[in-house]
Amino acid sequence: MGKRRPLVAGNWKMNGTRAESAALLDGIKKGVSASSKAEVVVCPPFILIALVAEKLAGSPVAWGGQNLSVHKSGAYTGEISGPMLKDYGCTYVIVGHSERRTLYGENDVFVAEKYGAAQATGLMPILCIGESLHERESGQTEAVVARQLDVVLDKHGIGSFKTAVIAYEPVWAIGTGKTATPAQAQEVHRFIRQRLASRDKTVSESLRILYGGSMKGSNARELLAQADIDGGLIGGASLQADEFLTICRAAD
Ligand code: 13P
Repeated sequence: MGKRRPLVAGNWKMNGTRAESAALLDGIKKGVSASSKAEVVVCPPFILIALVAEKLAGSPVAWGGQNLSVHKSGAYTGEISGPMLKDYGCTYVIVGHSERRTLYGENDVFVAEKYGAAQATGLMPILCIGESLHERESGQTEAVVARQLDVVLDKHGIGSFKTAVIAYEPVWAIGTGKTATPAQAQEVHRFIRQRLASRDKTVSESLRILYGGSMKGSNARELLAQADIDGGLIGGASLQADEFLTICRAAD
């Protein structure tokens, strides 16, 4: 870590009633101070964003969406746009999460459009990339991650990564309890940074690359100690305040 400000983002996925979320937010707020080194973000389901905005206003914790439409407004039933997220105080938005890619058919080109739509609205995209188990076992990890990155690079340029975050989430580690080893994660993080450095070293050095996939209080420290791991994108463990705060402290 070192030169880059660590970032810990909670992806709540499709979880939480209003009451559960309010209690979770109270717990998180207690453990994050303005002087914390790590930046802390929560990404609730759309319907809870108003509540989150109300609860977190004036706190050092930021919030974001889990997805956005490529359109600004119009006849797109069921969709939520970047300007709508912005209107509710979001500063981040997750783009191309593997669940969106695999369950909702979002391909690389569509994900790149969403990345552009986020930036056009002034939202910081958290671009998720990562290989499946089959891809890893057949030695395609680097090729897959490179392809996912290059589509965004070719469409929006290396300069766009000044206002973006990447999350490397090996699909086989998501929600499985099977975390990548620190060495496995570091290897891919370094690959990602080197690929971007070949276009612009300064941008690559300042870019934050988060690890995601079964990160929890007990394994965060050794993952975050790796040179190219700048934080975490946390699923299950972000739903418990104490667990999430343990990760935030490890990132400090
Ligand atoms: P888990 O932490 O539950 O494995 O989920 C990771 C993830 O998908 C975060 O976006």
